[in-house]
Amino acid sequence: MSFNLLKQYQDLIAQNEEVVLEDWLHHKDVQDIFIEHDIDAKFFKENYARNIFAYYMGVIDGSTQIGDCPVMGEYLDFLYDKNVMPDQLFMICTYFRKSLMHLSFNTNIISLELYDELSYIIDHNLKGVLERFRKIIFDKDQAIETQSQLLVQYKVVIDEGFIVSMANLSGEIIYVNDKFCTVSGYEEEELLGNHYSMIKHRDTDPDVFKSMWDTLLCKHSWQGILQNRKKNGDSYYVQTHITPILDTSGNIVDYFSISHDLTEVFMLQNELVQTQKEIIFRLSELSESRSQEAGNHIKRVAGYAKHLASLLNLDQKSIDDIYFASPMHDIGKIGIPDSILMKAGPLSEDEWKTMKTHSEIGYEIFKDSKRSILQAAATISHEHHEKFDGSGYPRGIRNDEIHIYARIVTIADVFDALATDRVYKKAWSFEDIIALFKEEKGKHFDPEIVEVFLDNLDDFIEIKANNT
Ligand SMILES: [Fe+2]
Ligand SMILES: [Fe+2]
Repeated sequence: MSFNLLKQYQDLIAQNEEVVLEDWLHHKDVQDIFIEHDIDAKFFKENYARNIFAYYMGVIDGSTQIGDCPVMGEYLDFLYDKNVMPDQLFMICTYFRKSLMHLSFNTNIISLELYDELSYIIDHNLKGVLERFRKIIFDKDQAIETQSQLLVQYKVVIDEGFIVSMANLSGEIIYVNDKFCTVSGYEEEELLGNHYSMIKHRDTDPDVFKSMWDTLLCKHSWQGILQNRKKNGDSYYVQTHITPILDTSGNIVDYFSISHDLTEVFMLQNELVQTQKEIIFRLSELSESRSQEAGNHIKRVAGYAKHLASLLNLDQKSIDDIYFASPMHDIGKIGIPDSILMKAGPLSEDEWKTMKTHSEIGYEIFKDSKRSILQAAATISHEHHEKFDGSGYPRGIRNDEIHIYARIVTIADVFDALATDRVYKKAWSFEDIIALFKEEKGKHFDPEIVEVFLDNLDDFIEIKANNT
């Protein structure tokens, strides 16, 4: 088919490009499709319509084959992504033919032959366009189908292993999977529509929730460990990953949460810690019964040491370690014969030598332990008779060669020994105790710790009163 008449009028058509494009894109039916699918007419005109027009010019002058439109693929992908239906595509194409026909009427080129030529190009092209569009729809539908199958498989895997839930902006639960129900002990109906706080455990640190909300409201994912509450009141622990779900404008619409149940791990860890604490408690009792100290001495030493450690701004783990380990400072006395330990009168030089070995006996008991509390016990036992100026025993170490735990416990231990009645002596007055600490500052005791101790003496007197 040759396009004699079209060729003859091609210059005229080309000069009227703007008229044709405006007529095409401003037809009411085309405008309605654009509005329905949120298509910007200006964008469409510059990116697609102008190139389509150029392609038709190419077909007319024979430089381009029908069907070889360079933007056709991109144009059809664009319309597909905008959810334009095939019948709407047909309508858009039809109005292009109409706008060309309008031009011929308006310029008085009314000819059946011209209409035939134009129809030939448009119809042949339209056939190709619709086939191509159908293929795009088919391929994309196939891809969506494959993706949905994959998503279903992901969901199965995730549901088997994880606790999954969704909440809306107000924190109301809008989705839970079976595992969520199994772990929390609630039925799905009891959870849906209720606020998330129904599973929140009151023991969870408020700072955890603060950090969580600060992160989520910045549209970032948050992860951390949460202690939750089951329907029966028991706790369960989860490692949780929460992601805000955003709409197309970037606003948060929902929160998606995926969690891993850590309850068993926490229980085991807790049991281990409790076991350690119980062994320590029993050992401390044994130590007290052997050391011939006034009742509750080790409890008070632990209390003073803990308070001093926190006044000195030690980290929480160190404060805990010193609290649980300090009662064992004299555990080595279990290795001292009763004849020396219980002797009423003064000790001979040899007996005193034996007595002093309790520091090292205690150290030997714990030194190979890998548990931090027992390591602290080894250090405290070893160094609680060392003096700041190096005149103590067993090694005569000085200053910060002596571990801070031991420097703290030494002060706590001596304070309690002076402030309480013993079989062989009455308690000292606080004035005398203060005078001694001032006198021994930098000699027996770490001067900085003595400062803190004396500055807060009332706290220590109160701890003493509560444990007598
Ligand atoms: Fe001791
Ligand atoms: Fe003691």
